[in-house]
Amino acid sequence: MKILITGANGMLAKAVKEMFKEEELILTDVAELDITNLEKVEEFVSNCKPEVIINCAAYTAVDKAEEEVDLARKINKEGPRNLAIAANKNGTILVHISTDYVFGGDLSLEEIYKEDDKKAPNTVYGITKLEGEEAICENTANYYIFRTAWLYGDGNNFVRTMLRLGREKEEITVVADQHGSPTYAVDLADIIHQALKKKIPYGIYHTTNLGYTTWYEFTKEIFKKANISCLVRPVTSEEFVRPAKRPKNSMMSKDKILQEGITIPTWEEALGKYLEIEM
Ligand SMILES: NC(=O)c1ccc[n+]([C@@H]2O[C@H](COP(=O)([O-])OP(=O)(O)OC[C@H]3O[C@@H](n4cnc5c(N)ncnc54)[C@H](OP(=O)(O)O)[C@@H]3O)[C@@H](O)[C@H]2O)c1
Repeated sequence: MKILITGANGMLAKAVKEMFKEEELILTDVAELDITNLEKVEEFVSNCKPEVIINCAAYTAVDKAEEEVDLARKINKEGPRNLAIAANKNGTILVHISTDYVFGGDLSLEEIYKEDDKKAPNTVYGITKLEGEEAICENTANYYIFRTAWLYGDGNNFVRTMLRLGREKEEITVVADQHGSPTYAVDLADIIHQALKKKIPYGIYHTTNLGYTTWYEFTKEIFKKANISCLVRPVTSEEFVRPAKRPKNSMMSKDKILQEGITIPTWEEALGKYLEIEM
């Protein structure tokens, strides 16, 4: 399979490259293929004619996006739109990654988000990622949009930060009222791999590791598995204000993708695998 990977130096892209290493890969960073440039994207895709594009490029600085609205929109909306236009013209399947931030996050904790539930993003990042999803749906039929959350892997991420803080400090505070599913980039790459091999129906899927937790409980599990004795104190979102408001409930149901026979590890198993490599 000939696969074009955009944003090839990003955290998820590293896991995707490894997962698809047996395939014919065309790897592009922003210098080789800026996804915001429609003309370049169309020319590049029609020249190399990949069977699949896996779009790992995105504007991911959630807080900074509140100020860099135009740039976030260019990369998160126009980028995927351009890829969808080019994919559609060349009979290419487009794989795109989206986020739990497309939801408002105000569901009661007894409920979890399904793919078609009402979208109500609260942040520039979430708004522009939702616009990207919509732009794909408008411009091609042969797409997979995989919504993920709390991603960690080979790059700066929450687990790495907690490991560092846990070793440096005797006590840290972590938000305990935001609920979601951590996702190991290697497991997300594996889900993409399984989905393409199985040729599951096109559409939007929720793809995080299985199970739900809070940042506070996640941190406690990191420290337990890593034998770190640092004390973790729970705080509320209101005590830990950030420029972009985080969703309190971003728990997403994985039923749709599981019904396609895709296997996904729990977030605890995934964390264990990651720590074996990271430590
Ligand atoms: N990280 C999370 O917690 C999380 C959660 C939910 C969803 N997601 C989604 O998961 C996907 C992968 O995230 P990630 O954490 O792997 O992202 P990442 O590490 O920030 O990587 C994004 C990559 O996109 C590249 N890029 C930026 N603008 C570009 C452009 N115009 N053209 C081509 N490439 C460009 C960046 O290059 P430069 O570094 O050179 O700018 C970077 O290598 C994204 O779609 C993200 O929205 C992430």
